[in-house]
Amino acid sequence: MSAVSSRLPVFPWDRLEPYKATAAAHPDGIVDLSVGTPVDPVPALIRKALTDAADSPGYPTVWGTAALRDALTGWVERRLGATGVTHRNVLPVVGSKELVAWLPTQLGLGPGDRVAYPRLAYPTYEVGARLCGATPVVYDDPTELDPTGLRLLWLNSPSNPTGRVIGRAELTRIVKWARAHGVLVFSDECYLELGWEAEPVSVLDAGVCGGSYEGLVAVHSLSKRSNLAGYRAAFIAGDEAVLGELLTIRKHGGMMTPAPVQAATVAALGDDTHVAEQRARYAARRAALRSALEAYGFRIEHSEASLYLWATRDEPCWETVAQLAERGVLVAPGDFYGAAGERFVRVAFTATDERVEAAVKRLAG
Ligand SMILES: Cc1ncc(COP(=O)(O)O)c(C=O)c1O
Repeated sequence: MSAVSSRLPVFPWDRLEPYKATAAAHPDGIVDLSVGTPVDPVPALIRKALTDAADSPGYPTVWGTAALRDALTGWVERRLGATGVTHRNVLPVVGSKELVAWLPTQLGLGPGDRVAYPRLAYPTYEVGARLCGATPVVYDDPTELDPTGLRLLWLNSPSNPTGRVIGRAELTRIVKWARAHGVLVFSDECYLELGWEAEPVSVLDAGVCGGSYEGLVAVHSLSKRSNLAGYRAAFIAGDEAVLGELLTIRKHGGMMTPAPVQAATVAALGDDTHVAEQRARYAARRAALRSALEAYGFRIEHSEASLYLWATRDEPCWETVAQLAERGVLVAPGDFYGAAGERFVRVAFTATDERVEAAVKRLAG
């Protein structure tokens, strides 16, 4: 058997297991701030849309229902500031992680091609490059990359893990550079609704892309925005030639979003109230954890958006992880996201109010 998995890095979360066990031994239980998984209820209107569509015996389509495509184009125009978005500019995906992992393969990339992503990044960009045999390349400033053989450039703003936001002027400059060199840009914007001290901007914003989607695709997910990580609801929007090619491949591959999830997505994108409510919950948890971490001696860098605090005590990240685990608090070591993160930890604020309060007490104690 040819082991494709041998091309992939070691699954990092396995290395956290011993610290998880230490944290779980705390008499008042673990406060898990490591994986950024939503914990609050799925909003009622979304659950209703899902169950109303439960009687869905037939196959769904990869492109989705017309109602779903209307919801996607409407949201992209309304929320991202894009103009002239048609059904050909949108495509549902089955959660954004599968898209990130399989995009280079579906674009036909392979040995000799280069795929670039930020030096500190969500690990699946590298996985995607390795799955198809392309060469992964990291960057600090993408416009300093050698464009030779560079077939795909990943942007991620707001960033996982740092929470950094790429400002409008910088984004515009990157788009201009990529277009000048014929480099396809995929902009992962799954934390766009979660700006705290900065207003995230989409690559599809008319001011950034000049009203043309040529060479640009934005990636969006409902996992964080609407507490739908369990539904696998996400989509991409942008260059119709790229999306048309992906649609053809994904039709052959049977990559369909289940019909009830399509209906739930329509309901979720049509409502901003639950997003504002969820934001308020996260804002309170973020403020509480931020002050507790700072009082404990952490320095927080970036973190102006997303669901994470990027924190350091200027010591190796595994020492920080070990120390917090002794207090029953589990965080993610920064080196999961690249060697440059070896003195940081990523603290997610996706825990209940009760667990966040427990963490604050433990840090103060
Ligand atoms: C930067 C980034 N992209 C994509 C994803 C995948 O999200 P999902 O597959 O739930 O849409 C995540 C999840 O944490 C992420 O942090």
